[in-house]
Amino acid sequence: MTDNQQERVATVVTAVMDRIREVIVEHKVTYDEYAAAKQYAIALGEAGEWPLFGDVFFESTVERVDSEGREGSAGAIEGPYYIPDSPLLERPYVMPMRDDEPGDVLIFSGTVCGADGTPLADAQIEMWHSDNDGTYSGIPYPDDRQLPPPFNLRGRFTTDENGRFEVRTIIPVPYEIPKGGPTGALLRAAGWHAFRPAHLHCITSAPGYASLTSQLYFDEDPYIDSDIASAVKPELTLQLTKHDDAADLAARGLDRPYFSTSYEFRLPRA
Ligand code: BEZ
Ligand code: FE
Repeated sequence: MTDNQQERVATVVTAVMDRIREVIVEHKVTYDEYAAAKQYAIALGEAGEWPLFGDVFFESTVERVDSEGREGSAGAIEGPYYIPDSPLLERPYVMPMRDDEPGDVLIFSGTVCGADGTPLADAQIEMWHSDNDGTYSGIPYPDDRQLPPPFNLRGRFTTDENGRFEVRTIIPVPYEIPKGGPTGALLRAAGWHAFRPAHLHCITSAPGYASLTSQLYFDEDPYIDSDIASAVKPELTLQLTKHDDAADLAARGLDRPYFSTSYEFRLPRA
């Protein structure tokens, strides 16, 4: 470890310890509460929930601080449910899904550009999101819910020569983070709900540019103002448009109305 790294550790850890001592003094924390807190930390570790706990309560703050002053589109937290190496899709892009995948059809389109607005051909978007039950594929949930097949609603696709893309998927729903373990117990103890508003996770990348991790939300979501992970940003909140024109549906091979939305990803230079 270099001297600089050692100094950084000492500075940040001292600040954390000082803040905790301040809270103990300010709120007159009792011995019973101190014992409960130690027990809680042990339970979080035993349940393997430290990553979930961190991503619910702290990741959005790290993301905001870390991206301060960065050019391009707003970023957002990655969360604990990213899985690398999802399927590379072929045009026309349809996210991997079951034949009878429940949920409203979503056509998501847009552009990937540099921060100056130059469209980027062959940029890659890696997208993942929950299904209509609020479940992600490939995640060992602690409850006995029905799991989607591996890589369901996870895929990678690229932009065309004009920097544009269009992909068909289903609209994810708001979901509760797993509530059966210590993280859920804390939410209940504090009287907080466990919901995140519905969102699409995207990691967008192109050669010569820094990759951008973001989430896109929908403006009429009931949890848009009370995300338990505090990660919503207004500039990442999109409007859905409903389409039910019979000729349009037939041209797209759809037997039910669909919704569309679009977004322009602007990537910072590497
Ligand atoms: C998510 O976006 O998937 C997520 C973020 C924080 C905690 C749990 C899930
Ligand atoms: Fe998520």
